[in-house]
Amino acid sequence: MKEDPYFTLLHKAMGYAYAPYSKFAVGAVVRSASGMLYAGANVENAAYPQGWCAEASALAAMIMAGETHLTEIAVMAAGEDICTPCGGCRQKIREFAEPDARILCYGPEGLRTRYTLDQLLPHAFGPDHLL
Ligand code: THU
Repeated sequence: MKEDPYFTLLHKAMGYAYAPYSKFAVGAVVRSASGMLYAGANVENAAYPQGWCAEASALAAMIMAGETHLTEIAVMAAGEDICTPCGGCRQKIREFAEPDARILCYGPEGLRTRYTLDQLLPHAFGPDHLL
């Protein structure tokens, strides 16, 4: 069987989560158009709304490597429910991805389900809308 490129990285990223308030650790890994992988974790703040999601951290890492296009993003969190990117993160992902970009949702045990960006953010507003 082919090895999962995300599983170990997601676990590692999740381990870096700074989530003392929600205690909900999340890891994310972005695959850029060049095939590079960029990881991130959620970072919370005592001023609650100032925290940010794992997806935002991973996107920032991709941008800081000079890349602006992604084809896939994987997210891992514990809990029974499937952790999909929040609404704000779906929009952040849209900025750098086509509607057919894949969103892979993991639990600590492995892949749970996969979506396209278009499934999670249909009729999305994007950079092309701007005049
Ligand atoms: N969170 C993420 O990092 N990604 C998601 O996809 C969902 C939510 C974070 C934000 C906050 O630090 C914690 O999970 C609880 O909402």
